[in-house]
Amino acid sequence: MKYISESEKDTIKFAEEYAKTLKKGDIILLYGDLGSGKTVFVKGILQYFVGDSKDVTSPTFTIVNEYNSDKFNIYHFDFYRVQNVNELYNIGIEEYLYSGGICFIEWPERAEELFDKNCKTIKITKMNDNQRLIEY
Ligand SMILES: Nc1ncnc2c1ncn2[C@@H]1O[C@H](COP(=O)(O)OP(=O)(O)O)[C@@H](O)[C@H]1O
Ligand SMILES: [Mg+2]
Repeated sequence: MKYISESEKDTIKFAEEYAKTLKKGDIILLYGDLGSGKTVFVKGILQYFVGDSKDVTSPTFTIVNEYNSDKFNIYHFDFYRVQNVNELYNIGIEEYLYSGGICFIEWPERAEELFDKNCKTIKITKMNDNQRLIEY
């Protein structure tokens, strides 16, 4: 399906709706260039589950940020700087993926071998300064 977001706020609202469809153990692969809005999307998800997203930043330097909600643990990964999939095995990636939490992965291209067709995908394309095409 497709959605055209007209603003950052719009993407957050879209993500809050999308969050309602998620289940325990879901893995969501976030595709899109730098600045397309992947992290903004995750903010909307956390707004729904945790009710506060002001501290959400991209985990570029730490690989993973963890959040806890009443229902699930939520793991936000950014693989942008990952050079080798072994870095991910070293942080115990499989334990996160199969923990029963919900995982969001920015730059899954860096480690496609970890994922199969059961993963959900979101692809965000920048159309202009404020418009984004969200395919899901
Ligand atoms: N419709 C939109 N949806 C999401 N972000 C948008 C939108 N329009 C403009 N932006 C801006 O684009 C940037 C997206 O940043 P970010 O989510 O960190 O990107 P990514 O994580 O994909 O690299 C933010 O500065 C945000 O304000
Ligand atoms: Mg990001």
